[in-house]
Amino acid sequence: MTQSGQHTAPQRGAHRIAIIGGDGIGPEVTAEALKVIRATGVDLETTEFDLGGHRYLRDGEVLSDATLAELATYDAILLGAVGTPDVPPGVIERGLLLKMRFSLDLYINQRPFAGTAPGGTVPHEFVVIRENTEGPYVGEGGVLRKGTPFEVATQGSVNTRMGAERAIRYAFELAMTRRKHVTLVHKTNVLTFSGDLWERAFNDVAAEFPEVGTAYNHVDAACIYFVQDPHRYDVIVTDNLFGDILTDLGGAVSGGIGLASSANLNPARTGPSMFEPSHGSAPDIAGKSLANPIAAILSAALMLDFLGETEAGDRVRAACEEPVTGSTTQIGDTIVSRLVG
Ligand code: IPM
Ligand code: MN
Repeated sequence: MTQSGQHTAPQRGAHRIAIIGGDGIGPEVTAEALKVIRATGVDLETTEFDLGGHRYLRDGEVLSDATLAELATYDAILLGAVGTPDVPPGVIERGLLLKMRFSLDLYINQRPFAGTAPGGTVPHEFVVIRENTEGPYVGEGGVLRKGTPFEVATQGSVNTRMGAERAIRYAFELAMTRRKHVTLVHKTNVLTFSGDLWERAFNDVAAEFPEVGTAYNHVDAACIYFVQDPHRYDVIVTDNLFGDILTDLGGAVSGGIGLASSANLNPARTGPSMFEPSHGSAPDIAGKSLANPIAAILSAALMLDFLGETEAGDRVRAACEEPVTGSTTQIGDTIVSRLVG
């Protein structure tokens, strides 16, 4: 324990990892990610958890409090993808993924991007810090007179000063280790209540980091810059829903969603953090060894970083730099051969 009461990343002994392969292509890409990080020689002790839409259909469990409490004892969670078309939207997303993000206080969703925009020539590298526990995701609201012509649905966006501030502070701390620039993305011209809270929190935190340059973009304009001028970005900080949408766009302009990695972090280390590719379970290509496991492999590299194994994380990223083609397992094998070769 440090003086602030935060746990530091363990450097010795086996890291205890909970594995949730999930649905669709999830188990396939997770198997490759595990194969690759094992090949780094890092000491891992893994336990598989059978969760996802298929499990829900079998015995009704989405994520019980008992399973959640067990997951909370691990050093990290590696997740493939969850969701199947046989289960109504929201059941698995809210009951499993969001339940983990909220209950384990995974308040940062860190999504790095590197690539060359379609038609572009100059490579870019930037990272989105998405607030991961608030906004419209909290499930505030409800429905009245459902199914009638007078139906009313509300879905509020919850923004706390604490929640915005800790995401913004994380972004500035990260920027200090990089090119020292943070852009706030929001929609302050329309969302005048939440936008104002975010803007003031951003300005207050920015004052603590005089070396870090800042910018502000409305989210619609940011969509244009992602495509036409991503080089302007170093670290972007934004709310949960804008971050969800922008990071899919980030994937699309950085070599495709098959490369987009993601870390759901509890930087205070009061519990495990969770690492998952940004993509979904892609049931249409499941079981055919067609999925690109690179996003899962790069997410596992982020896990290695967070466990204090940055050297191994760097090696995995370096092994993924050159393009690689083939089936899911062939791509995993190629990355392993680059690592050990
Ligand atoms: C993501 C996903 C999730 C989200 C869904 C599956 C709930 O799209 O991780 O980006 O919206 O956060
Ligand atoms: Mn998403």
